[in-house]
Amino acid sequence: MDKLNLRRELSSARASLSPEQLRANAIKVRETLLDQPWVQMAGLVACYWSTGTEPETHGLVFALWKHGATVVLPVLREDYDLDWAVYDGPDSLAPGRFGIMEPVDTRRGVDAIRTAALVIVPALAVDRKTGVRLGRGGGSYDRALTRVGPNVPTVALLHDGELIDDLPAEPHDRHVRFAVTPQGLISLM
Ligand SMILES: Nc1ncnc2c1ncn2[C@@H]1O[C@H](COP(=O)(O)OP(=O)(O)OP(=O)(O)O)[C@@H](O)[C@H]1O
Ligand SMILES: [Mg+2]
Repeated sequence: MDKLNLRRELSSARASLSPEQLRANAIKVRETLLDQPWVQMAGLVACYWSTGTEPETHGLVFALWKHGATVVLPVLREDYDLDWAVYDGPDSLAPGRFGIMEPVDTRRGVDAIRTAALVIVPALAVDRKTGVRLGRGGGSYDRALTRVGPNVPTVALLHDGELIDDLPAEPHDRHVRFAVTPQGLISLM
């Protein structure tokens, strides 16, 4: 299946998840991540502020921030590349492009992700063998992930059934080292 059809299929499966399932999934994903020592110890975390049926990160971002981590969230640029700004509690966000909540804080530039000790990204699916991720089609995270060093843990958050075989991939598609589903943490490479 090509990327476009696969995105359609995955998005419609997400649309069938109930608010209760979404909430339960978010709690499991958050607990799995917060149980990891390398998550607890990360001083600078790049994450995302979920929207719609994406694996929900609001509680996760809040918990990381409460534990003392500096959390940066994406600010979508005109060219679909990702700038980054610091999350500073629930009042530090405002709707950005496409209504997605973004930090109102000073933008730190596209290279701010280079200094993150942990990078948590959205994905529609991840290839279970290669860790290659499929996003929503902007190429934003492909660009952001090129700036992340090889030893930094990169984690994609998924719902059940989104870790798949033979994901279509192009040369620019980046992989992640871990996936977290409601079933737990999966190490990919
Ligand atoms: N490193 C890059 N530099 C410039 N443009 C890029 C880069 N990576 C991807 N793109 C552009 O993004 C477009 C969409 O890529 P792709 O279909 O892989 O999106 P995606 O991985 O689903 O999105 P995202 O990364 O936002 O989750 C590509 O056609 C390409 O033009
Ligand atoms: Mg891609």
